Amino acid sequence: MFSKTPIAYGLRVVSTLFPVQKPLLFSGAGSLGKLVDYMTEGGYRRPLLVTDAFLLQNGMLDGLLAQLRDLGCEVTVFDGIIPNPTFAVVEAGLAQSRAGNCDAVLAVGGGSAIDAAKVIAAAHTDARPLAKLVGNLKIKVPPLPFFVAPTTSGTGSETTVAAVISDTQTHKKRFFVSPKLVPIAAALDPELLKSLPAAMTAAVGMDAFTHAIEAYTSRNTFDDTDRDARMAIALLGKYLPVVVADGNNLEAREKVALASFLAGYAFTKASLGYVHAISHQISAQYNTPHGLANAIILPRVLRFNKPAVADRLAALERMFDPQASGSDDALATAFIARVDALQDQIGIPDRLEDLQPADYDKITADALAEARVTYAVPRVMKKPDVQRILEATARGERDLSFT
Ligand SMILES: [Fe+2]
Repeated sequence: MFSKTPIAYGLRVVSTLFPVQKPLLFSGAGSLGKLVDYMTEGGYRRPLLVTDAFLLQNGMLDGLLAQLRDLGCEVTVFDGIIPNPTFAVVEAGLAQSRAGNCDAVLAVGGGSAIDAAKVIAAAHTDARPLAKLVGNLKIKVPPLPFFVAPTTSGTGSETTVAAVISDTQTHKKRFFVSPKLVPIAAALDPELLKSLPAAMTAAVGMDAFTHAIEAYTSRNTFDDTDRDARMAIALLGKYLPVVVADGNNLEAREKVALASFLAGYAFTKASLGYVHAISHQISAQYNTPHGLANAIILPRVLRFNKPAVADRLAALERMFDPQASGSDDALATAFIARVDALQDQIGIPDRLEDLQPADYDKITADALAEARVTYAVPRVMKKPDVQRILEATARGERDLSFT
């Protein structure tokens, strides 16, 4: 699936010239402890623990702190993480990291903690101001060794090359993108994930599902991204309903976390598509949670993309049902119906009532602009296509056709 469109070509060059390493993975109950053993056996004894105050205060990190103490570590705790972390948050963490003369960074938290920790680790070793690290491949000095244990399963930040920090002066998100931001090692510990509420588990799980689908249907695919995306889709199809129904099912929690990790790797190399291009604008306009916005938009974009990727969607249907037979178009249609059923099963609504027709022009223009410069999409949308998707999303119409 190699396209010579400029963006697909550019992505291919970047993916080839700047290969992305996967973090070393520890998985399963007790894997946070194994991650800490690995970190300290590497000689790191003065970690900066980046987390949020809630996790610290409710005792979820007591065992971790005791283990670090027993191993002779001097831990500096930075618990100032907030949703959509700002430059001020990063500066505060950086000040603590420097004051503690830290030699590693350990992030335990959601995507916000992991993103802020990435930038703290990079800024600690670089004398330049933070603003100089913003953008693509601007991080020149190796960051502090960076270790991570996510407490949500969806963003994939534990394996991606990017960190997003909010700029409160311009009201814009700033992207730090570099292969140097990928953690050395990650722990997917279901004990850290089991308290995530069902609705949030469903939404962030569908974010991971969307990462995998958009990576798999991108025009910048590789053998390893295809393999990881397919595995993520299979795991989420099987285990996401289980974990939404029973958050204490640790085996299912681990499988969903693994899927998120694999999907994160797949999209960081293969790129995303129109689901994210549209959902980013919706979230910016209405504060809709990212995973929920993706989940609701996904079935419409799948239907738009189907003519260009029927063979790929048919292959996914055969993965779920090896006995399935029929044309690629019929099997692709069956796969999309499978996605609809998954969404219904885990309680994702079929409409987004916040959408206001007066905002459609701006959402459409910004979504098309984001996709044009960022993603290797399989089929190019025009303005009426996005508007049709927005209207259908406001009405709760999933099964729409495109001319
Ligand atoms: Fe996402």
